[in-house]
Amino acid sequence: MRTLKNILVTGGAGFIGVNFIHTLLEKSLEFTGRIINLDALTYAGNAASLADIEKQFGGNPTDKTGLSKARYFFEHGDICDRAFVESVFAKYDIDTVVHFAAESHVDRSILGPEAFIKTNVMGTFTLLDVARNYWKNTDGTIRQDALFHHISTDEVYGSLGDTGYFTEGTPYDPRSPYSAGKASSDHLVMAYHHTYGLPATLSNCSNNYGPYQFPEKLIPLMILNMLEGKPLPVYGDGKNIRDWVYVEDHNRAVWAIMQHGVTGEKYNIGGENEWENIKLLDTLINIVSKKAGLDPAKVRGTIAYVKDRPGHDRRYAIDCSKIKRELGWKREVSFEEGLTRTVDWYLSNTEWINSIRSGEYQKWVERNYGKR
Ligand code: NAD
Ligand code: TYD
Repeated sequence: MRTLKNILVTGGAGFIGVNFIHTLLEKSLEFTGRIINLDALTYAGNAASLADIEKQFGGNPTDKTGLSKARYFFEHGDICDRAFVESVFAKYDIDTVVHFAAESHVDRSILGPEAFIKTNVMGTFTLLDVARNYWKNTDGTIRQDALFHHISTDEVYGSLGDTGYFTEGTPYDPRSPYSAGKASSDHLVMAYHHTYGLPATLSNCSNNYGPYQFPEKLIPLMILNMLEGKPLPVYGDGKNIRDWVYVEDHNRAVWAIMQHGVTGEKYNIGGENEWENIKLLDTLINIVSKKAGLDPAKVRGTIAYVKDRPGHDRRYAIDCSKIKRELGWKREVSFEEGLTRTVDWYLSNTEWINSIRSGEYQKWVERNYGKR
């Protein structure tokens, strides 16, 4: 088992990163080290999601008394800014990177691909290159007790027909600017491992859902639209299929790889839980209606079939037998349970939702950190 001391979490203020930090610090997953969250706080990042963590584990690294006890630090900045990334590595003596930071929404990548190439490709390259230099031994080799874990997506594999699954050996066939950028970053990670000996692991996960997800992705968007009586936009015929995994299950898999994964290996993570979008929506309508006292028939009446997303991948389905077999990971949260927890979270966190929807949060970021 690896001993991880100073973990740099990039994108730790985003959906999966926030959940990762909560899980790691609050659920006693055999971790006693420090977490350094480096995040640019784009529209998708929210420091307020970690206010409780900041309170319980936070500290000022320049404060001597804080330094000895604090286990959580926040660094605001861009992964493309090499000098800044280098300074963070040196300041905290980083030995582990878990790289979540990305532009992550396919629809946005279609409207404005440039930010995706900058962050997902150039940002990943910058992190890899800083790690390679920082972890260099005096003889030019790279220390092997460090780790760079890269978080990626099943979307790099392209689109499936009615049958078959993505395995770790499936050839890459990305079809959106988002997935093309992620595919490129995956190749860079493996290239740094093979060329320079960088100790790296990689995971490709299916669609996540759970608390703190920005309400532009299917599940939180639909929950909030239902609560606000807005139309529920279904792309195309609604029969595209995604394989859903609860965010905590994904993060436990990431942690298993970070502790026990073999460097140079990639691992698929999935929920073994395929749903047509329209059937998922039907289930979600039942849960939200029951909890919020809505009439499900009325809510169903607000479903609006809209123009399809260009290049919309038809089906994703992950074969995650490798991580189950080799690292003993398995999904723990059923879809029913995960959806219920997610709906409960969105029902009871109206302040979080209102601050990002009203634009108040971005104004707060600019006041505190300046414009990005
Ligand atoms: P998200 O969009 O919710 O969060 C991304 C975070 O990265 C935000 O906090 C944002 O501020 C930060 N960020 C963006 N650009 C940055 C930059 N240049 N420098 C520093 N920080 C920056 O994304 P997410 O859903 O939490 O996804 C996290 C990772 O998981 C991504 O790499 C994504 O590709 C991958 N992934 C996501 C899913 C999913 O269903 N959400 C599934 C598989 C893989
Ligand atoms: P999304 O949450 O954007 O994830 P991804 O595109 O990365 O899989 O979308 C999930 C599925 O839901 C995808 O097939 C597109 C579809 N979708 C809709 O039908 N309506 C919507 O408003 C959104 C956001 C997505």
